[in-house]
Amino acid sequence: MIVTIDGPAGAGKSSAARELARRLGFIFLDTGAMYRAVTWAALEAGVTLANEAELARIAHSIDIKLNGSRVAIDGKDVTDAIRTFRITTATHFAADHPGVRERLVQLQREIAEGANIVTEGRDQATVVFPHAECKIFLTADERIRAQRRHEDMQRRGEQVSLDEVLAKQRVRDQRDQTRPVGALRKSGDAIEVHTDGMTPEEVVNRLEEIVRARQKGE
Ligand code: C5P
Repeated sequence: MIVTIDGPAGAGKSSAARELARRLGFIFLDTGAMYRAVTWAALEAGVTLANEAELARIAHSIDIKLNGSRVAIDGKDVTDAIRTFRITTATHFAADHPGVRERLVQLQREIAEGANIVTEGRDQATVVFPHAECKIFLTADERIRAQRRHEDMQRRGEQVSLDEVLAKQRVRDQRDQTRPVGALRKSGDAIEVHTDGMTPEEVVNRLEEIVRARQKGE
């Protein structure tokens, strides 16, 4: 069974999807981590991010391994390195380039082959797994999303103001919704869940309820 969870930045997709996968005994796939990984590898290699051909070459040449919430590139653990503000704001180059998307979509489909999986991102229901059995669109008010991300960053010791996080998030939302390939949009057959005012536990409970109902054929 394939469960897709798409939605804007900061809607709480990653933590909800990870916990949902654990409860169901499914694989968890964080596709945003893959776009971040390509960005990190390109910066390490000294590649100009606007150079689309070089970025696609990096996406094809690196070995990205996702193990639960750990991410490794060519054997090096980059789990924390790909979550910095620098990588977050630079990842749109990788996400906007069709050559990079094509490669990552291919990898995502390979990972899902024959597996029970919860996969989260922006284009999972619309582009990568249009035939997924269960599609969820997770969203929340933009201020709440920015507050959540700001709290995460403060926990990691990053000094950024809430206003700056909100401003950058607006730019990212706009980019995510308007990119020519793999844009963020709700699939017509997805169930929309608004997480405003819900605790993380309540969000996962709701998602589990949706998937269990689908498993029973409801
Ligand atoms: O979800 P996360 O914030 O980690 O994603 C990082 C970036 O990768 C997002 O800003 C988004 O633009 C991009 N992305 C994407 N397609 C996906 C997942 C993420 O374009 N399936």
